Amino acid sequence: MLLLLLLTSAFALLPWAGAGRIIGGREAERHSRPYMAYLKIQHGSGTTPCGGFLIRPDTVLSAAHCAHKKGKVKITVILGAHNINDREQSQQRVLAKDWVIHPNYSPVDYRNDIMLVKLKTKAKLNEYVQPISIPSHKESVGTGAACEVAGWGWISLKKDKTDVLREVALEVQNETICQDVFKDYQQQSMICVGDDFNNKSTSRGDSGGPLVCNQKAHGIVSYGRKYCLFPKVFTRISFFEPWIRKQLKRFALQEVPGSPSSD
Ligand SMILES: *[C@@H]1O[C@H](CO)[C@@H](O)[C@H](O)[C@H]1NC(C)=O
Ligand SMILES: *[C@@H]1O[C@H](CO)[C@@H](O)[C@H](O)[C@H]1NC(C)=O
Repeated sequence: MLLLLLLTSAFALLPWAGAGRIIGGREAERHSRPYMAYLKIQHGSGTTPCGGFLIRPDTVLSAAHCAHKKGKVKITVILGAHNINDREQSQQRVLAKDWVIHPNYSPVDYRNDIMLVKLKTKAKLNEYVQPISIPSHKESVGTGAACEVAGWGWISLKKDKTDVLREVALEVQNETICQDVFKDYQQQSMICVGDDFNNKSTSRGDSGGPLVCNQKAHGIVSYGRKYCLFPKVFTRISFFEPWIRKQLKRFALQEVPGSPSSD
């Protein structure tokens, strides 16, 4: 009892207790976004976390900049997670067998910031793990569309971390806002997103996660300005849909064992 009281008061003293996360968002309801993937990207100098999302039982979509690293890269995908540091029964941990970074991805201006990750074993689909649809080539979101982003990224600009999935509502912005701020902004292949008034945003570690509008993954968290919450640029999935289909066909020709290990 005393311990419980101590714990409770300790939590109450933390400066971020009760505040919104992702930045300015809230904790997602457990497993309400069963397409969310946590990517652990190991490379020469360390490990980078990223977001991603399941679009097929054996394929995750994410941002190219997550895996565009020097040296040998290894990607582990965790599906069905809420608290990424807990050993949850719902979690499925799968190694990436292969991944395709868009051939015209540019680390200078973040053009074509998209990557498909092929899993070594198919995910076992259940209430915790389900793919999300992507839009067709013609189906692009317009200014004012209400969307949501989720991630395990920083919850402030000061490196505060979260273990649990957080989500935030963001709106598609007029592209002129991003054109004014980013000289390399490409209207066709990018989406300008944000909330100019409420300090809501994505942050480091959210990269690769989906912008969900109307139940479909329309964007991929890509870039913004350092220390700025607004605006943010997302990769426009509808533009890349033909490329995605082509890669999925290639993937289908490779063999994938059907039985996953869920640990
Ligand atoms: C975007 O902003 C420009 C300049 O303010 C305006 O002319 C245009 O109509 C806006 N477009 C939309 C879709 O709101
Ligand atoms: C947004 O953050 C800034 C800087 O911390 C603060 O001054 C401002 O009041 C915040 N706005 C809202 C709507 O919370």
